[in-house]
Amino acid sequence: MFGARIAGTGYHVPENIVTNADLTRFMDTSDEWIRERTGIRERRWVTRGKDTTATLGAKAARKAIAQAGIAVSDIDFIIVATLSADYYFPGASVLVQRELGLSEAGTGAIDIKAQCTGFIYALSIASQYVQTGMYRNVLVIGSEVHSMALDLSTRGRAISVIFGDGAGAIVLQRTEEPGRGVLTSKLHADGRFAEKLVMPVPGSHGGYHDDRIETDTDWQFKPAGEWGDFFVTGQMLNKALVYPYMDGRNVFKMAVQKFPEVTIEALEAVGLTVEDIDLFIPHQANLRISNYVADKLGLPPEKVWNNIQRYGNTTAASIPIGIAEAVQAGKIKAGDLVCLTAFGSGYTWGSVLIRW
Ligand code: COA
Repeated sequence: MFGARIAGTGYHVPENIVTNADLTRFMDTSDEWIRERTGIRERRWVTRGKDTTATLGAKAARKAIAQAGIAVSDIDFIIVATLSADYYFPGASVLVQRELGLSEAGTGAIDIKAQCTGFIYALSIASQYVQTGMYRNVLVIGSEVHSMALDLSTRGRAISVIFGDGAGAIVLQRTEEPGRGVLTSKLHADGRFAEKLVMPVPGSHGGYHDDRIETDTDWQFKPAGEWGDFFVTGQMLNKALVYPYMDGRNVFKMAVQKFPEVTIEALEAVGLTVEDIDLFIPHQANLRISNYVADKLGLPPEKVWNNIQRYGNTTAASIPIGIAEAVQAGKIKAGDLVCLTAFGSGYTWGSVLIRW
């Protein structure tokens, strides 16, 4: 078995800044409400026609590849974690492969759809490929464009103010240095909560009412579609099924429980404790969640990397953006123990420990 270390990091966010004040043009909200409940001051949104999930991801990837000091052609495999791929299918990863000029090489590429935990799942999968010797350099990207599917009316304000666009990438590379790189990863999911944070349409479920699914909202209905004609209907658009739905309180309650639980599980698996962590990079769900989790774990603020204030919640991109920023800021040095933990839609949650 080999080790799998992070050899290069990079991120790219759109230049277009959307402040909380900007959002008041679309909906009844306020800077004060958004800051107080989420910690968010501003987020980035792509310019239509300029960037997509794949182009943001490819831009972040090029920076990570340059930092790793390798050529694009050295990349053996591409994993893109995203819930907002350019197309319903194929996934964003093949488009990233094309953007990077790796099509002729036939480099393998897959998407991982594990929402806010997507990067943790992707990194864990990549580490298995590298540790077993199957691949030497795996590109792992988290990239999201949320701004294309947000209900910007007052109806959608509880969720639309939270999400932003951006991408982060790492090169995961084979190492023969003992004890270096990914030490462990712990992954979990509980599908009973699938509808607590969901974008129901488009999908094969078709928005159809299902008595087995407990829901406290009216997003399910009986669509009047024929075969082949219920993927996206006017009725679905009217009911806002093409936008994300979130039971914010339930997400909050579960997140503050699962974040610490899985972090401790990962630490215990390798015989380490919270005191050993040099930098904790939690998925940026909400600043209140991150602060609560840090407090519960007993981590001082200087050991926690947060950027939700500037980018909002960028789902699968928030952790790799955080890693790249922390490296750039000189917050991570060789030998440090870096802990990455996420929780999100699914519900899914997980933690990865890395000896830098
Ligand atoms: N601006 C102003 N008011 C808003 C608003 C907004 N953007 N969004 C909701 N409100 C209003 C509601 O309409 C409601 O008004 P009412 O009391 O008159 O009915 C009030 O604020 C409280 O709404 P509620 O949804 O109960 O707020 P909350 O205290 O649960 O906070 C969240 C909402 C989303 C901030 C909170 O639930 C949360 O942080 N959840 C976790 C979300 C998260 O991390 N998601 C990412 C998952 S990875």
